[in-house]
Amino acid sequence: MYCSVLDAKDKVLEYKMSQQDEEDKHELPPLIIAMKTSAETNPGHSRGRAAPSSLTQLIGVKPFIYDFAALPELDSFFFPKGPILDAQKQAAKVFGSLETWFLIGGTTCGIQAAIMATYSPGDILILRRNSHSSAISALVLAGAAPKYIIVETAIRELEMEGKKPVAVFVTSPTYHGICSNLSEISRLCHSKGNIPLIVDEARGAHLGFYPHLPCSALKQGADLVVQSTHKGLSSLTKSSMLHMSGNIIDREMICRCLQTLPSTSPSCLLLASLVATPSKLSETPKSIFEEAVKLAVEAKDVIKKLPGYEANKMLYRDHDIICELAGSRYVTLVINLGTCREHVERLVSVIKHLVISSQAFVHGGDDDDKAARRVAHGGETITERALDYLLSVRRKGGIISGASDHQFSSVLVCKLQYVWSGASNSYASISHMHTRTD
Ligand SMILES: Cc1ncc(COP(=O)(O)O)c(C=O)c1O
Repeated sequence: MYCSVLDAKDKVLEYKMSQQDEEDKHELPPLIIAMKTSAETNPGHSRGRAAPSSLTQLIGVKPFIYDFAALPELDSFFFPKGPILDAQKQAAKVFGSLETWFLIGGTTCGIQAAIMATYSPGDILILRRNSHSSAISALVLAGAAPKYIIVETAIRELEMEGKKPVAVFVTSPTYHGICSNLSEISRLCHSKGNIPLIVDEARGAHLGFYPHLPCSALKQGADLVVQSTHKGLSSLTKSSMLHMSGNIIDREMICRCLQTLPSTSPSCLLLASLVATPSKLSETPKSIFEEAVKLAVEAKDVIKKLPGYEANKMLYRDHDIICELAGSRYVTLVINLGTCREHVERLVSVIKHLVISSQAFVHGGDDDDKAARRVAHGGETITERALDYLLSVRRKGGIISGASDHQFSSVLVCKLQYVWSGASNSYASISHMHTRTD
């Protein structure tokens, strides 16, 4: 049908595409070959004609031509049997998992699926306070109750109360790059009646690929690991992977949750970028990160001297350098596979010459513990000290996410209530309440 409406320009484009096809075919992953074939007969956005020109001026029409939802003839995203399944198997081999699922809703979606697959309403999840907001939203979706604390202490405390967590959730590395001793945690979890260990490795998809980096969560015995391959590796934004290892996870539950959460229109572009990522890694798995790690080590000591928000603002405003994250006393910068020596040398020289007013060094929020306010955050009380800290972050220009409004003038309190209606039909009802911060 599309062939009959081709104009001359389309035909030239098609010819170029097919020529390129022949050159590339022998080395392309099957899903990408299938995608190219599909684009010839069923191109996205009416061969790009429906694309807004304001955007095609920037990125051309090609992204639109290949932007279609994974078609049944290509493979089914939710019940893969063809090229998507093959690509997931290859990813499992490269990352060292038993099974891998591609995610088109980011790590957020993988964390939610992992938690929902292991929890029922009323179950207890052990997690740390530094967990990503997706873990908190997963608790709300699953109707599970959090126990925030150090894992070892939490398991012991629950044992004393005659309770057992159904899983432990750890973020490693943290957004700031701090890794946990996951071998010890997984050993402990498995020794206490096979408690599954779920690891948010959003920031550590590269860890299995360089011997001098900390070991990956999979190598350390985690049962479910979610990685933002779009952050440290090379897939497109919003594409991530969920890996499973061992035999204590119910894979059918994972599949069911993964069908529930994301859009029913999986983007082929996101999928293609996920497919291409393990292929790229497998070319030189031992050395691909060598240069990036070397550059990071060289820059580390200089970056450490930078204070937070003020430096972040100055780096961006005066030098076009974008920090990944800024806190009141630090900035986090990302070095990845695309970073080259020139970039790092410029960064180091800018930092060395940065004149920062003494104001930028003012820290706040170190008050003693005061009486706790009756404000709940994911099941626990926000103390006066924590609230003061958050307010000081707001004063310095930080953004507080998870509040009911972006000004952080109030927080949203979720109250979970368990409703029992039949043997297998318990569910959680949620009521919301806004509480002012001042
Ligand atoms: C530690 C951590 N976990 C999870 C996420 C969510 O990842 P995604 O953006 O892929 O949904 C992020 C995102 O920044 C993160 O830093």
